[in-house]
Parts: sequence; C-alpha cells; structure tokens
Amino acid sequence: MSETILVAVAWPYANGPIHHGQLGGAYLPADIFARYHRTKGNRVLMVSGSDAHGTPVTVRAENENRTPGEVVEEYHTGFLETWQRIGISFDLFTSTATANHATVSQGIFRSLLNAGYLYTAAQTLHFDAEAQRFLPDRYVEGACPHCGYDKARGDQCDDCGRQLNAADLIAPRSKISGTTPVLRESEHYFLKLSALSDQLEEWLGHDKEHWRKHVLNFSLGMIREGLHDRPITRDIDWGVPVPVDGFTQKRIYVWFEAVIGYLSAAKEWAQRSGDPDGWRDFWQNPDAKSYYFIGKDNVPFHTIVWPAMLMGVGGLALPYDVPANQYITMSGSKASTSQNWAVWVLDYLSRYDPDPLRYALASQMPETSDSDFSWSEFLRRNNDELVGTWGNLVNRVLTFTARHFDGKVPDPGPLDEEARRLLDATQSALDSVDASLHAVHLRQGLQTAFGLAQEANRYLDATAPWRTIASDRQAAARSLYTALNVIAGLRTVLYPYLPFTCTVLHGYLGAQGTVEEAGWRLAALTPGAKLGDPQPLFRKLDPSIIEEEEARLGA
Ligand code: MF3
Ligand code: ZN
Repeated sequence: MSETILVAVAWPYANGPIHHGQLGGAYLPADIFARYHRTKGNRVLMVSGSDAHGTPVTVRAENENRTPGEVVEEYHTGFLETWQRIGISFDLFTSTATANHATVSQGIFRSLLNAGYLYTAAQTLHFDAEAQRFLPDRYVEGACPHCGYDKARGDQCDDCGRQLNAADLIAPRSKISGTTPVLRESEHYFLKLSALSDQLEEWLGHDKEHWRKHVLNFSLGMIREGLHDRPITRDIDWGVPVPVDGFTQKRIYVWFEAVIGYLSAAKEWAQRSGDPDGWRDFWQNPDAKSYYFIGKDNVPFHTIVWPAMLMGVGGLALPYDVPANQYITMSGSKASTSQNWAVWVLDYLSRYDPDPLRYALASQMPETSDSDFSWSEFLRRNNDELVGTWGNLVNRVLTFTARHFDGKVPDPGPLDEEARRLLDATQSALDSVDASLHAVHLRQGLQTAFGLAQEANRYLDATAPWRTIASDRQAAARSLYTALNVIAGLRTVLYPYLPFTCTVLHGYLGAQGTVEEAGWRLAALTPGAKLGDPQPLFRKLDPSIIEEEEARLGA
C-alpha cells in the first residue's frame, strides 16, 4: 500500500552559508529519506525554506549596514544553489518572508487566540531611550550574573555558557547606542503551554517506540520539569505583524512563526502545483506521516511548542517522528561560522563532487551521538570505500563486460550455487536497507549496502572472470552476469545516498527513465541487453588535500 509522507526540514536562518554540520544533521538525512520513499512509489512532499526573521538576520544586517531583506535575499539564493548542486531534492524551498507565510501564520495565531491558548501580560524589558526602541535579548550586553564575564549577551553568556535572563545582566549596555537601557513594561502575547502540558505528555507517552531515545527522553524531561507559558510576540519591526488591533506594531516571535512554515510551505506548494487543496493530503489525512529532520538544538520547538500549537488549533497532523540528529564537529571542535571552522558546502563543491561529501556525512551521521568530520577521514572514505570498494566493483565489471562481451549483458547459462547465493544476498540487502531507511536508520542502510559491495568484490576475486575468460567463457559470463545484477541492486539502494553517481550508473546499466521510476526492486538484467559506455564513477584524491583543506580552517 502506498504511503503519504511529509518530509519537513529545519528552516535555516538566512544569515550565512550552509556548512557540513547543517547538511549532515538535517538536509542530507531528509533528502535520503525522501528519495527512498519516492523510489518506493510513495507520495512525498519535502518542504522547508529560509528563516528570514529573528535576530540572527537583523544582527548581520546591522553589522553590514544592509537591510534584513537584502541579507535574506543573498543567502536564500545561496541556499537554492546549494540544494541544487549537492542534490537536496526539495519539492519546495520557500521563505518565511512570503505573503502566504504571513497570512498562514496570522491565521494560526488567531485560531489559538480564539481557542483560548493565547493571553496578554506585561513583560519588563530593556528599552533604549536614545534609539527609542525595546531591545531584543541579543541587543543587550553586560556582565554575567554567574561568572562576571563582561560581554555576556542578554540571552546567554558565551564564557560560562549559561542561559540568561536579560533583566539579570549587571551593568547592561545597549548594543545599538551604547547607552544604559532602562527597564520598561510592554504588553505581549503568551502561549499557554502550561494548559497543554498533560495533552503533550499523553501524546509523547504513546506509540513513540520508533522515536530516537535522546529525542523522546529530552522532551519528556522538559515536560516533567514543568512547562512555562512563553511570550510569542516582540517589540521589533522585522517579522510577521501581530494580527490584533493595538498590536500591529509588534511582531510574532520568530520561532512561533517559523515552525508554521511547514504548513504554509505545503499550502504554497499546493497553490503552485495547481491543486490548492493538495496540502490537505499531507496535513489532514489520518494515514499521512510527517517526519521532521532537525538538529538537536531545535528539538523543544518541534516536540513541544509546535505540537502544542497544532493541538491548540486542532484538525492538523502532529509529527509522526522527529528524527533529530546530534552534532557533527569539525576536526574535534564545534563547527563555528564566526571562526570559519566548518566545511562550507558551496566552497567544497568548487573543488569536489557532491557524492563523496554525501557519502562521508551519511556514513557517520550523528543519529545517536555526536560525530566528527575531518579531511583525513573524508579522504580515507573517498579513496578506500567509494573508489576502492564500490567504484572498483562497478568499474571492473562494466569495463570487462564492455571489452569481452561487446558491452552487452552476458548470458549466464544455468546459475551455480555461489551465483544464486549472491543474488539472494542482493534481494536481502534490498529488503534490509528498505527496513533501515523506513525506520530512519540511515547509517545502517549504508553499511548494509557496502557490506554487499564487499561480498560482490570477494565473489569476483574468487570467480576471476579475467582468468576464466580464456579457459571457460561460460563461467566468465556467469560471474559477470551475477556481479552486474548485484550492481543493479546496489544502484537502487545506494541511490538515496549517492544520487548523482547512481543516476549515471543507471544509464551505464542501459536502463531507461530515472532510478526513482524504476522503483525499489531487483529486476534481473536481460541477457543481450545493451550496456552504456562506462567511465569511473569516482576519482581518487591525493593525500595532499588534507593539509591544503586544513589550512583553510580558521582562516
Ligand atoms: N532557523 C532555525 C535554526 O537555524 C531553525 C528553525 S526550524 C523551524 O536553528 F522549523 F522552526 F523553522
Ligand atoms: Zn557567565
């Protein structure tokens, strides 16, 4: 039976280019999952967009003397190019700056208000009298009340790492005018999370065996500690206006509206595809499943806040799974934009092909604990595994077949036991990778696939068609035919991970249409069918790139 799958991916702040940590933590796993489901013949809608609002964007704009809109435009364009070139196959990658998103967000706001889940209360906030404006937390600096660090921000201290209450800063200064801000009251809307706590706990306590332990435990822990109502409006002018008379000068808090993006993007996608009601299938059909691909720092917003909002509104599907990832560090340290400590995906693509990075990240995806990216590990995986194991298998089988069998699938005659065993193993790998991907165990799926590639290499070494070709042409034909069928199976299971090279390989195997259209099945190759003219799928990299790339770090 065909499934309906919403693949919802974290919305990146449009304030900097995408790095390997974001790619491996959210975009790549989402893409692998979406490609897998499409190949299975399921209905998939994969959406996300630029997170255009919030202080990450306005701080950069102010530092660079540009408008926030200009900053968003620049990075949004970069995101689109990144997805296209690294192969992240969004059905729609939009932005929270659209009119549609504002309308949908305001609609959700009103529904929650009407349902009694929003209320107003006074907040005491820093006000810059010179600039005549309230200061978001990140715009206030002062001494940390815990460790005394002099440049603590209103939201957190970068020295001792503690989360702060801006009002607790000692000797606060406005980052806008440098003057001492005054505390002033301001009226804001709050989301009544406390009222939804029991419902959330009930939901998280049922049928969540498929959730990752760290995600579920963290979320339940938050609820047990007690959920506090949260202010969801701000005194700023960049964002979605609050749709209530007397409040239209204020803006909806960035996190409150960004998560609504999953819904507004589905509606935009439906509009654009000419079926304005098409979003309902993903949001109101009880059989549809939604998966949220995010990094661990986003967990509370996706397992508590967003589900609470959806419960408050009613009639919209709650997340089916939130397969959040841990972090991918860089050469042992936390990835950092400001310290240039990361691999920037577009920069990487100016020197290398997309699939090797996809492979390196997928093979150590931080599904249960943090993992590390290093150039030496990247080189090893590329040279030993992609080129040495998989590329070598494909290359020697295809070139040998081209040379000795006129580039056609050899007729194997009757299969012997070894050949049959390997073909059975291929069918098992298809089933096993299917189960792994279905459960979002992406590393495991890749391991299974590479295990089969190794087995096929051993089979080839043992049957040695390059030797038997002179003495027993039928044996050589049988061994190549068998290996070609394993390669055809691996083309399918590796496609979600390595879409560029598997698409090329699909052509070498003489197949028509796309890998997704061919489906998740092992269709035996027809003896005599024409194969394409093969070229190596991967290239070996020189060890000198390690030093070269490491020199770019931190520069
Ligand atoms: N912009 C946030 C970040 O980069 C993620 C937002 S995910 C969303 O951390 F769903 F809330 F949009
Ligand atoms: Zn501190």
